[in-house]
Amino acid sequence: MLSIEEYKTAFLQHIEKIFTPKEPIHLYEPIQYILNLGGKRIRPLLTLIATDIFGKDYCKALNAATAIEVFHNFSLIHDDIMDNASLRRGKPTVHQKWDTNVGILSGDAMLIIAYKLLEDYPSEIFQELVKTLSETALKVCEGQQMDMDFEKLQEVSIEAYMQMISYKTSVLIGAALQMGSIISETTKENQMNMYNFGLNLGIAFQLQDDYLDTFGDASFGKKIGGDIIENKKTILYLKSLALSNEKQREELLRAYALNEVDNKIARVREIFQITNADKAVRQLIENYTQKALMILEKITIGDDKREYLRTFALQLMDRKI
Ligand code: IPE
Ligand code: IPE
Ligand code: MG
Ligand code: MG
Ligand code: MG
Repeated sequence: MLSIEEYKTAFLQHIEKIFTPKEPIHLYEPIQYILNLGGKRIRPLLTLIATDIFGKDYCKALNAATAIEVFHNFSLIHDDIMDNASLRRGKPTVHQKWDTNVGILSGDAMLIIAYKLLEDYPSEIFQELVKTLSETALKVCEGQQMDMDFEKLQEVSIEAYMQMISYKTSVLIGAALQMGSIISETTKENQMNMYNFGLNLGIAFQLQDDYLDTFGDASFGKKIGGDIIENKKTILYLKSLALSNEKQREELLRAYALNEVDNKIARVREIFQITNADKAVRQLIENYTQKALMILEKITIGDDKREYLRTFALQLMDRKI
């Protein structure tokens, strides 16, 4: 096994080779722009690690890891259009820097590139990779539509919210691990457990993303309070409603209906804290992280490798960005 930094370097060298300037410039430049903006690269790292952990050469997983990262970045370009977001990784979003049409088409091209990156795998592995990616991609669309539908609802059940975040975010983290496991040709049971580890870690990860959107600092790289402005039914909002007394509940609903940006964010943040929703969410993140770590026990790998995944997961959940 390599260190996380070494996998990251190998991955970055790989994408540098693949994505070179091409015409038409307004199609390919935004693709290079978003892919070079940085980001944590969690998903491709997980793919490479999964392949290595079951004893196959991680280099065999570089194309699949790139496919996952390209898909993820495509979903971010379109997500930023849907969420009216101006900032991504501390820089202007693609639709802000160019325009919405450029964002739509570059995103479309990236989805196609993601599939093309799988073309050279041996046919049986190719089939399984495509099946995994397609099932996942469709769930991401379902999750994204639920997320937008929820903006217009006053109340959303925690159960519906959990399904929404599982689909929009967690399934891709599970799929990243599954695809690496497929390439390693490990048992179906190990593949499934790796997927479920990623699914639960992905839930904790999206809960954390909701938390940081309100309580993070500038290093988060997105506009703090963006979810509140867009009336997102985040876990903070839902927990706050559930923990509110009658008066707090009315205040939260009133504050969420405000149009005045700065006031709205400050007021809502205050109610999240008064109702202890912030603490409740931190506890929930911890619960899902532990759930993920428990699944690790079922995977048939050496304890040093289990520890490697455990450390990766804990470092990820310690993030500020
Ligand atoms: C952002 O994902 C979108 C979510 C699913 C919350 P990341 O937090 O992994 O974004 P980058 O790729 O590191 O910027
Ligand atoms: C991300 O959800 C889900 C996808 C991009 C598919 P968010 O809308 O919370 O992601 P960020 O916060 O903009 O990165
Ligand atoms: Mg968004
Ligand atoms: Mg979104
Ligand atoms: Mg978010």
